[in-house]
Amino acid sequence: MNILLTGGTGYIGSHTAVALAEAGHHVVLFDNFCNSQPDVAQRLHTLTGQALPLVEGDVRNTALLTHTLQAHQISAVIHFAGLKAVGESVAQPLDYYANNVQGSISLLQAMQAAQVNTLVFSSSATVYGEPHYLPLDETHPTAATNPYGRSKLHIEEILRDACAADPALRVLCLRYFNPVGAHASGLIGDNPRGVPNNLMPYLSRVAAGELPHVNVFGADYPTIDGTGVRDYIHVADLASGHLAALAHLAQRPGFDVINLGTGQGYSVLQMIDAFAAASGRPVPHRIVPRRAGDIAACYARPDKAARLLGWQATRTLQDMCRDTWHWQIRGAGHEQLEQLGSVPNLPPGNPQHSPHIP
Ligand code: NAD
Ligand code: UD1
Repeated sequence: MNILLTGGTGYIGSHTAVALAEAGHHVVLFDNFCNSQPDVAQRLHTLTGQALPLVEGDVRNTALLTHTLQAHQISAVIHFAGLKAVGESVAQPLDYYANNVQGSISLLQAMQAAQVNTLVFSSSATVYGEPHYLPLDETHPTAATNPYGRSKLHIEEILRDACAADPALRVLCLRYFNPVGAHASGLIGDNPRGVPNNLMPYLSRVAAGELPHVNVFGADYPTIDGTGVRDYIHVADLASGHLAALAHLAQRPGFDVINLGTGQGYSVLQMIDAFAAASGRPVPHRIVPRRAGDIAACYARPDKAARLLGWQATRTLQDMCRDTWHWQIRGAGHEQLEQLGSVPNLPPGNPQHSPHIP
């Protein structure tokens, strides 16, 4: 199948590109590089042995999208392109609605023009808001608490309406829980700009010595040890979930939403311990006040994905930490290590040979 990945050079898009190419699909990447680097295409070439076509453009450019869909004879789209920083969305809501909502409408219009009917959309567990019960299933009420989350909810509603109006459409919204980890090669991974907001990249930089300690946002939640609990899922598991989603859509027209999570929650302190073990490095931490807008615990009921997609996450917390660390020392941290004159080509989790980063 010829598949277009909007946001294909981003974190989740690039891992999904590898999984699709390995499964024999023809992948076309579409990205404006507002949060990724064009050199990801070379890395994907190395990983897959294929030169995946890459179109530089904004998803709000409907004409370019329509042309791309037609020129590459695309039969399905996975729509990763979007802005995703919660704090930034509060400060710049119009940018988030313009990019995420308008971008999705533009994509639907291009798909209509090019007669492409199959779409997988990157949604988020953030659409559930404050949990009324746990684990979260897909019938849990939705209530986004910030413009980023609301943009995801608006898009889900737009997609539902588009499916109601056009019986040929096949749309699956995948509600990701907390994607972490990296490709086992260490060639691609998450590369947030500046100081990371999310826990896993922050842990990784503390272990590498780039940041002094982890601020643990609250230790007074009603959880196993008082710190926040989340459903971390390896990005490679998430990637295989997209393959299962496309296979499912081939059998089933209409609209649906499905959680992609493991069903297992881990606390911040459990994550710190696991990362220290995987990296062989100390990960010092300090308890600080809660972060505004955070919830105590959030984890999925993954049964619907198992039932409808025949998919479940298989990678462990150790796998997630090991691969994040591998990416830190071989990928994300590579440039910095080279600048420091250190040895970047290290086996993961081996403190003896680890470079010293001041
Ligand atoms: P990412 O920022 O790494 O990737 C998104 C990609 O989209 C980037 O390469 C960016 O350059 C591109 N992009 C953004 N706006 C664009 C536009 N208007 N036109 C063309 N390209 C554009 O993010 P990610 O973590 O890979 O997330 C992918 C999707 O999954 C996003 O929609 C995000 O909201 C959603 N999601 C991510 C997480 C997470 O924790 N990473 C969790 C839930 C949902
Ligand atoms: C965040 C986003 C959410 C997004 C998700 C995906 C916010 C408010 N929410 O959720 O919309 O879908 O990422 O990855 O940003 N923590 C610390 N110290 C840190 C960083 C985090 O203690 O330096 C804690 C948090 O309080 C939380 C846990 O670690 O308990 C995970 O945080 P994070 O990785 O930011 O993810 P979420 O808050 O779940």
